[in-house]
Amino acid sequence: MVVERADITVPEQIAALHERLARTTFDLLFVSAGVTNDPEETVADVPTETFVHLMVTNALSPMRVVEALRDLVAPDGTIAVMSSGQGSVANNDKGGFEVYRASKSALNQLMRSFAARHADDPRTLLLIAPGWVKTNLGGPAARLTTDQSIPGVVDTIESQRAKGGLRFLDYEGRTVRW
Ligand SMILES: NC(=O)c1ccc[n+]([C@@H]2O[C@H](COP(=O)([O-])OP(=O)(O)OC[C@H]3O[C@@H](n4cnc5c(N)ncnc54)[C@H](OP(=O)(O)O)[C@@H]3O)[C@@H](O)[C@H]2O)c1
Repeated sequence: MVVERADITVPEQIAALHERLARTTFDLLFVSAGVTNDPEETVADVPTETFVHLMVTNALSPMRVVEALRDLVAPDGTIAVMSSGQGSVANNDKGGFEVYRASKSALNQLMRSFAARHADDPRTLLLIAPGWVKTNLGGPAARLTTDQSIPGVVDTIESQRAKGGLRFLDYEGRTVRW
């Protein structure tokens, strides 16, 4: 196993990562990096800096990684990005997590645009909702442990191998409404 490091908000580091990996072909590119803010912060009071940080880290930067590294993914391979159930516009009946939600919705929208722009590309595209998971980001009150979420995420990604197209799926393989 080889571990490389990159800050996905720094385009030069993404380019350098591409250079280091240039002779490798991957079955799967999975961009999981993400950040959150105080969930109580709304657009009424969020500092602009925080808003920009979430949008750049959760929406723009994962797509920059996808754009930069896609040529390293095999034609029958998969490009997946960690989204969130919170990114669903259709399921947002209760509000909360306003800025985080908006950043994941923006990510989903950008992925749809990417899919449209590369309509002839055979690679499978996935947006993944892992459930609410006990991590630094999810916090200790989360519903699932990583052991309860991540095997399902892996199975879901595996189940889509070579299917092509773009899907928004949760850790149990269910379609999430856009
Ligand atoms: N936990 C949940 O309930 C939940 C629910 C839905 C979606 N998600 C999504 O799942 C993904 C993983 O989150 P997590 O729950 O595992 O949270 P986490 O424990 O806080 O992990 C976040 C990861 O993102 C990395 N990261 C943050 N900013 C980065 C940057 N600029 N460049 C490179 N890496 C960066 C962090 O790296 P460092 O440790 O080096 O900072 C860390 O490995 C995120 O996209 C999150 O939005 C989580």
